Amino acid sequence: MHPTIFVIFGITGDLAARKLLPALIALYSKRMLPERFAVIGFSRRQFSREEFREMIRNRLNIHPGQYREEDIKHFFDHMSYEQGYFDDPASYARLSTRIDAIDRSWGQCSNKLFHLSVPPSLYEGILRNLSDSKLTVPCDDDSGWTRVLIEKPFGHDIEAAASLDRLLGKLFKEEQIFRIDHYLAKEALQNIIAFRFHNSLFEPLWNRNYISRIHIKLFEKIGIEGRGAFYDSMGAIKDMGQNHILQMLALTAMEKPKNWSAAAIRRERAKVMQDLSPIGPRNIEKYVVRGQYAGYQSEAGVAANSSTETYFRIKASINNARWKGVPIYLENGKALSEGKTEIDVYFRSDNITSWFGKKSAELADIGKQNILTFRIQPEECIKVKFFVKIPGPEWGVEPRTLKFKYSDSPSHQSLPNDYERLIKDAFTGDQTLFASTDEIMASWKFITPIIENIGKLPLKQYSRGAGEVE
Ligand code: BG6
Repeated sequence: MHPTIFVIFGITGDLAARKLLPALIALYSKRMLPERFAVIGFSRRQFSREEFREMIRNRLNIHPGQYREEDIKHFFDHMSYEQGYFDDPASYARLSTRIDAIDRSWGQCSNKLFHLSVPPSLYEGILRNLSDSKLTVPCDDDSGWTRVLIEKPFGHDIEAAASLDRLLGKLFKEEQIFRIDHYLAKEALQNIIAFRFHNSLFEPLWNRNYISRIHIKLFEKIGIEGRGAFYDSMGAIKDMGQNHILQMLALTAMEKPKNWSAAAIRRERAKVMQDLSPIGPRNIEKYVVRGQYAGYQSEAGVAANSSTETYFRIKASINNARWKGVPIYLENGKALSEGKTEIDVYFRSDNITSWFGKKSAELADIGKQNILTFRIQPEECIKVKFFVKIPGPEWGVEPRTLKFKYSDSPSHQSLPNDYERLIKDAFTGDQTLFASTDEIMASWKFITPIIENIGKLPLKQYSRGAGEVE
């Protein structure tokens, strides 16, 4: 692999500590980074070299035995720190000098990745400074590419997203822009496409004639984990609805792409979001439920009278030939009884005319439907609920389950986690698992009228650890 420099803006932040640095050290220990690579942390605070190492080491929270000691030591040898201000051109000039010095010591023009691990309000300033300082200009057509990695939230409504996208389009080429939605990089989500398009058992049934409903659940047991001020300005619909949950839906409902290129897959994902039937002032009460867990308003950083939702359920529908009329439930909440992410696909039972004396409607009522479940986390699996005759003299049926568990797969332990996968793909330039402009715009187009009218809905209070929000 070509030598690469990875610059992290906001190295002292939460994301760098929880996701980026652990992913980088894991990739390093698996020998999946280029032999010549450097990580430069950039932020406002002053650190000596030793203090910087100490800070990283503490925040990485490495368990004893997790990595070989010499890997940890060598990983730190690849890291350096640049103190600077995000809005100060002189800081970017210093960063540029540091990068040039590394290139000179390697005798090669390296590739450069710039990761914006900062609050979205700082994106514009950083992007402009990166461009003005020429840091994102590749050495030439063949070597030393430069890429920017941008975290969600990508804007806070459709206008803001469009304006950020216009700016990016002015400063960079699309192949330089990597918009992160880390759910796309979850192994079990990627399997949805493989499973759907490689099993003749299911693909012919994958439409409104055989599927009666889809339920996407993104349930978290955790609360807002010290991110009060940020979360309170967002709410669940922007935090998880506009991005993760719609990407899960896109993979579940998309048409087969023309080929397996990033462009073709992203195009099909975007089309699903573009075909979502709008929900706005006239029908929001019918299709959306919002809630807030009891005690949320006393969390640090949260307004005492906050009406920010920590839970939502949207009954969506896709207006195309494949899915017209199929209800699709999109549900997310914090502080629920169970943390799990899964997609349940319910097959119709009304095409079974009669079954041991029961009529189709009764079958649906008593839960006699085939259900295909993609469990994304934890305990990733794919399972199918089906029915068999109760062994013995009775003419009745009982449910059974066929299940594939990821933990049974021999490569399970060594699978890269979501951020490892994203960083690896950004290194190799594969944009499949990153959101395109069209996806971002389509998702905001669907979500914006919901957010604008959310105040019309009662805010249902639920207790921490609630199983259901009615
Ligand atoms: C983030 C949200 O995008 O995803 C968080 O901002 C949420 O609120 C997190 O907790 C969940 O990610 P994961 O990978 O832990 O399921």
